[in-house]
Amino acid sequence: MDEERLVTYPAEAFLSAEYLQAEKKLLWPRVWQMVERESDLPNPGDWLTYNVADESVIVLRNEDGSLKAFHNVCPHRGRQLVSVPDMLPGLNSSEPVHSVRGSNRKSFVCGFHGWTFDLDGRNTYILDPQDWQNRLTPEMTCLSEVQVDTWAGFIYINMDPGAAPLREWMGRAGELLDHFEIGKMRYKWRQWAIYPCNWKTAIEAFLEPYHVAATHTQLLDYGEYYAYSRQYGFHSVTGYDTRDARFQMANSSGTVRAGKGDDPRVSTYELIRENYETVNYTASTESLVRAASRLKDELPEGTSAQECIAYWQRIAREADAERGVTWPDIPPEIQSESGLAWGIFPNQNILHGVTFAGPAYRVRPYGDDPDTCIFEAYALERFPEGEEPETEWVYVDATAENWGPVLAQDFANMEFVQKGMKSSGFRGTLPNPHQEQKVINLHRCLANFMEGRGAPALL
Ligand code: FES
Ligand SMILES: [Fe+2]
Repeated sequence: MDEERLVTYPAEAFLSAEYLQAEKKLLWPRVWQMVERESDLPNPGDWLTYNVADESVIVLRNEDGSLKAFHNVCPHRGRQLVSVPDMLPGLNSSEPVHSVRGSNRKSFVCGFHGWTFDLDGRNTYILDPQDWQNRLTPEMTCLSEVQVDTWAGFIYINMDPGAAPLREWMGRAGELLDHFEIGKMRYKWRQWAIYPCNWKTAIEAFLEPYHVAATHTQLLDYGEYYAYSRQYGFHSVTGYDTRDARFQMANSSGTVRAGKGDDPRVSTYELIRENYETVNYTASTESLVRAASRLKDELPEGTSAQECIAYWQRIAREADAERGVTWPDIPPEIQSESGLAWGIFPNQNILHGVTFAGPAYRVRPYGDDPDTCIFEAYALERFPEGEEPETEWVYVDATAENWGPVLAQDFANMEFVQKGMKSSGFRGTLPNPHQEQKVINLHRCLANFMEGRGAPALL
């Protein structure tokens, strides 16, 4: 599939209520999935809930500092240990609930009959245990444990006790991104919405830059958006490419590149500023934009694109160092291979830079409705120590005011892709073999979990 062969896959995975039910059994309980940032559980006793489909998991920081995760269900008669409004966005409440959180926890007490559990999931209290004729064992009465691990500052869980370790799951994608030290970045903002399309329709709207030319037409004034895409096991990457090899040198595969135009001192600034301001202050940082704005004054006319970029990166790095932000050293071959943005199977996408990560996305199904999803986007940045902003998940509707004009343009497609795929005239997809491998790979890997359903087939 990675050989850029022509494939198609059906629309069932996006539309079928029965497929959604199958995901509950075959997909979500068996994949590593991002829960939250580690910085959200800094202290022993901090905890939060993570919900996906019908599953709810409690993730907590134990007294020894380690993370633990348990299914959010009492082993007595199955009450949720922590009540999570039905479901996390609150189908029945007016206030959407992103997740239930708390701190200073020493134990969890079930609200139904009072069974109590410590932070290792052990049962520490049962009313009238003698009534079971002393035949209850610790194994019967403890919480069901869930695998938990961390990567790049994200907490991940996997409900499958037999699942391979997270590091193995991340593979080469994890190795490459480790160089960017995303674990040291903190949230700049985080927002979520309930959006009217399937979770796959939503994430796929952000997996490829092939749509930029038609969807974000205004960006074409500043840069080219031709892109390659490549599969890396479960995960996949896109990077900027060029249709004409002669212009290859002026560009790199990631956000560090010259813009369109004759004077790279100007175009480099204009490209980065336009992206930063219209993609809701992500895809770059204030330091990078400010450094780019100096190129025109500080470099002579006729400076090459490569020299401009090298100078820009050097002065941005120096300016950051002065305010206490240290850039990691990333070997050029790693920088190049790591491209522009990663699709982390199944439901994450991260655009990464040396001092930022974002826009980044996570999507989840919403209730039993294949036409609705929980959509989350966030930006991470490297801040001076002690100057990290306090952020929380903010529920906002999918409008340009809330998300910036570029995401609003993406939102304007997603709902209508969901509708369009229902047409009896839709013959199945025709993904671009060069630019949309991330989308193809999502369906290839999904099919592996979904007993072959929806697998891409050669045309
Ligand atoms: S269901 Fe939890 S104590 Fe009874
Ligand atoms: Fe887009």
